[in-house]
Amino acid sequence: MKASMLFAISLTVFSTAFYGVRQTPQQSVNYQKLGDSLSLKAQQTLISNLMGAIEKGGAAYAVDFCNENAMPLTHSISTKRSVDIQRISVKNRNPDNAASLFDKKILDLFESNSLKDTLVRVSKGYVYYKPIKIGMPTCLQCHGKPKQDIEAATLKTIQRKYRFDKATGYAMGDLRGAWKLAFPDK
Ligand code: HEC
Repeated sequence: MKASMLFAISLTVFSTAFYGVRQTPQQSVNYQKLGDSLSLKAQQTLISNLMGAIEKGGAAYAVDFCNENAMPLTHSISTKRSVDIQRISVKNRNPDNAASLFDKKILDLFESNSLKDTLVRVSKGYVYYKPIKIGMPTCLQCHGKPKQDIEAATLKTIQRKYRFDKATGYAMGDLRGAWKLAFPDK
């Protein structure tokens, strides 16, 4: 990526960060608002399914459940609109959720201040990001400290399904990653 392009992108990020939604004349849809509501819906869907799975078969069973359903559930929210919904992280569990170089800049921004969310103009559309935090003790059953928070059977299942798992060692309130919603220009 050229330096000038990076500069333009960071400028957009920072202007979005400090001045809220960057409404350009072409932007007929409020993507920040739409991103907020779609990511909230996706989050609620994932959490209610996760809680149901833990209740049904415990945390180790729920790992299998997430392994099979997290992606399809996330994608199901995007079927009605032309939007690509993802969860990204620097310390990802699923290799498909690895943060890109640009994602990492946004995550750094979320790490260093309490920004609620941000909208970025990219060459092909808009990208909305919202932080995902370790917001409840349940998260620690699979993302906390091995042995201390994560039971042996759960850890075993995680390691069996995700050979390169990086998503442990978190504590309450930590930034776990972000929702990333890409809205392509029509
Ligand atoms: C029962 C175990 C379990 C619990 C509890 C759990 N997760 Fe996860 N989490 C997983 C698994 C498994 C994946 C990988 C899903 C996939 O393959 O797409 C994952 C993936 C994620 C990701 C996507 C990035 C990545 O690392 O792949 C985020 C973000 C995340 N979890 C946040 C949370 C938060 C926040 C909580 C608490 C509300 C939570 N998780 C609770 C098992 C769990």
